[in-house]
Amino acid sequence: MAADLERTKTGLVGLDKLIGGGIPKGNLVVMSGDPGSGKTCLCLQFLYEGATKFNENGVFISLEEDVEELEKFSTLFDWDFKELIAKKKIKIVNVELYDFDKLLTTIEDTVSSINAERLVIDPGVVFRLYFKTELEARKRILGLGKMLKRMNVTTVITNELSMERAKSLYGLEEYVADGVILLYHTKLENRFVRSIGILKMRGTKISEKLHPLEISKEGVKVLSEQELFEEI
Ligand SMILES: Nc1ncnc2c1ncn2[C@@H]1O[C@H](COP(=O)(O)OP(=O)(O)OP(=O)(O)O)[C@@H](O)[C@H]1O
Ligand SMILES: [Mg+2]
Repeated sequence: MAADLERTKTGLVGLDKLIGGGIPKGNLVVMSGDPGSGKTCLCLQFLYEGATKFNENGVFISLEEDVEELEKFSTLFDWDFKELIAKKKIKIVNVELYDFDKLLTTIEDTVSSINAERLVIDPGVVFRLYFKTELEARKRILGLGKMLKRMNVTTVITNELSMERAKSLYGLEEYVADGVILLYHTKLENRFVRSIGILKMRGTKISEKLHPLEISKEGVKVLSEQELFEEI
């Protein structure tokens, strides 16, 4: 029964409403989105809300942006990451892109160093760069998924959707994901609109609609009561 699952609240009220109250604890969610659709912002917010509202520590593994860049990005919003980092409630780690084993050890060590219950890997799509063959990628990414399950840490891995959507998923979803969240930033006549949809969430009744999403100084807000095309 869905109601029996222990859930990790994202803290984004509108998003939690779309997924039965939160991400099932220990599950791994892939968040796929267009460039600039808010993936990094939403992930930082997931950790911020966890640390400030639910007393759950969080780790941000950054495979692209360095720690200073992320801290600077977070100052665009009303979040004080510096204090949370000083209190060891949040750790942001930049991992160089050359050794998958080192990535696994860093994840394990950092998560256990602060007993983190939330983990973000951003952008996860670069995993494919580690491997020469599809088979190796598949085996190792599955291994990562198993390690995260064992650690019982609720994880969000980001994934880029390119303009060629069909080609853009790199199989991350089918390899490891218990859930898939999609963020769109799409052109509609003479403007861009942001939206969010839940493609799947294990053990959860989900909304099958696309809902509008706003980004402001408070971060990402999901308008769960509205459907995308109502507002237009
Ligand atoms: N204070 C703010 N108010 C409104 N919008 C903002 C504010 N700060 C940042 N943004 C916008 O929020 C979006 C957040 O982008 P973010 O970096 O989270 O997206 P992303 O999906 O991670 O992108 P990328 O594919 O480049 O990694 C950007 O489009 C940015 O312009
Ligand atoms: Mg990003």
